[in-house]
Amino acid sequence: MSKPLVAIVYHSGYGHTKAVAEAVIAGIGEVSEVEGKLIPVENVDAEWETLDGAAAIIFGAPIYMGSVSAAFWAFAEKSSKRWFELKWKDKIAAGFVNSGSQNGDKLQGLHALYNLSQQHGMIWVGLGLHPGNNNSNGSTNDLNRLGGFGGAFAQSNIDQGPDVTPPDADRRTAAHLGRRVAEATVRWERGKA
Ligand SMILES: Cc1cc2nc3c(=O)[nH]c(=O)nc-3n(C[C@H](O)[C@H](O)[C@H](O)COP(=O)(O)O)c2cc1C
Repeated sequence: MSKPLVAIVYHSGYGHTKAVAEAVIAGIGEVSEVEGKLIPVENVDAEWETLDGAAAIIFGAPIYMGSVSAAFWAFAEKSSKRWFELKWKDKIAAGFVNSGSQNGDKLQGLHALYNLSQQHGMIWVGLGLHPGNNNSNGSTNDLNRLGGFGGAFAQSNIDQGPDVTPPDADRRTAAHLGRRVAEATVRWERGKA
């Protein structure tokens, strides 16, 4: 039998959110019982059946003008065809967002991803970490340095390329989310058997 699939559907205009998505899939790769697959929104029209067959879908987007990018949301609207039949009901879901500013209205974007998952009747998995860098011994190198709870937050300096930014701490936080979703998926799928 093939392994349960954890798909990542993401948009990235300039490569920074793609770097976060790659960190998420590296975390998924640490869990041998599942497969991971990256699906850029540009390719989604060839991948609807892949998504229908996935056990989990992780949504990822950059923050453009205070919420998820329009290209990501175009995918969200197209997914309404799945909504009519609640085809994604009871799949595991999670999300990550990336922006230029430290805050940058990331939570608005993450809530958009959460709402999308709930419209589809999915099971949302949060980050499951304490915040980092919130006391006098903290550092920007801490896991979850941006202190998110509902998903993985990343921040990319707007004058640097994705080879440099987001920093390692955000990539490790994203990998943590990928691993956590993969582990949750294993337990969820086992429960169905
Ligand atoms: C059209 C546009 C709007 C943006 N709006 C925001 C914003 O509201 N908040 C923020 O912090 N950064 C904003 N940014 C910066 C991006 O979130 C940041 O550069 C991010 O790393 C881009 O990710 P990408 O390379 O995957 O597209 C914006 C960038 C663009 C191009």
